[in-house]
Amino acid sequence: MANITAPYPASRFRRMRQSPTLRALQRENTLTTDDLIWPVFIREGENAVTPITSMPGVERQTIDILVRNAAKAAQLGIRVICLFPYIEQSLKTEDCADAWNPDNLANRAIRALKAEVPEIAVMTDVALDPYNINGHDGFVVDGEILNDETVAALVKMALAQADAGADIIGPSDMMDGRIGAIRTALESAGHQKTCIMSYAAKYASAFYGPFRDAVGASGALKGDKNTYQMDPANGDEAIRLVGRDLAEGADLVMVKPGMPYLDICRRVKDTYGAPTYAYQVSGEYAMLRGAIDQGWLDRDKVILESLLGFKRAGCDGILTYFALDAARLLA
Ligand code: PBG
Repeated sequence: MANITAPYPASRFRRMRQSPTLRALQRENTLTTDDLIWPVFIREGENAVTPITSMPGVERQTIDILVRNAAKAAQLGIRVICLFPYIEQSLKTEDCADAWNPDNLANRAIRALKAEVPEIAVMTDVALDPYNINGHDGFVVDGEILNDETVAALVKMALAQADAGADIIGPSDMMDGRIGAIRTALESAGHQKTCIMSYAAKYASAFYGPFRDAVGASGALKGDKNTYQMDPANGDEAIRLVGRDLAEGADLVMVKPGMPYLDICRRVKDTYGAPTYAYQVSGEYAMLRGAIDQGWLDRDKVILESLLGFKRAGCDGILTYFALDAARLLA
């Protein structure tokens, strides 16, 4: 970009900042409810919620409550909800069979949402961790996370979600080859219209801690996810991964976590021009919300500023636990 700036005083940057009108005129980015994807935690039961200690203000919701909240979200202008199930301990197994059960919690929630609030698009999570006795995203054999066997299971899981009516399939597992395998399976099963948002550049991050509490995977997780999630030190690898997943048929790509990885968002957008999303993850929420609750940060301003940063970094949308708060602020 050519950057021509007259020497002072011909150029005074404050001239264009002197009034709200002039600031609006030169504003480069905006945040709207179209940019928001609301991640929600779901649980079994009826008319009940469970608070999540490490995520104040976020609750696991039963399906009936989810449906009511989704209708509220739609009224506020939110268009996409992303579901994460809290799976009962008794259903967690080594073979993770509940993951592709057509009547599991997530698939029942998808059906309920599509029946009751059809204007909301439903995104899913494809990974084995909520169903896995080991808390890992893939099958574990002798301490190793198997790749190809896991991909075959993820395909079954994605097909069950698409059958239930999911609009966007979200593989978050970081196995190699899963986007191509899922795309091929969706096409041959008649799910040509089902989109895939790949968690393409997903880092092995300490910022996922509160999420693992929320889905009940913290206690279960043995070891770490470093053999499949990315090394936080790497940037070029993220670009290669995103290119790989686009080439395998991803419609949308995601960078995760968000705020510590804004450089990756920008590089992904500049390199591919593809629909690019960031996940403002549970740890980012906990951090901001903790400081807000202490009165150390201005709630409304910091929520909007943190989200606008993703737009400036080139993102087309953001998964955020602040989606409802942000939508109210934008109204
Ligand atoms: C698991 C998954 C994780 C998140 C989304 N899907 C956690 C992990 O990889 O351990 C994290 C989301 C968040 O922290 O808000 N497949």
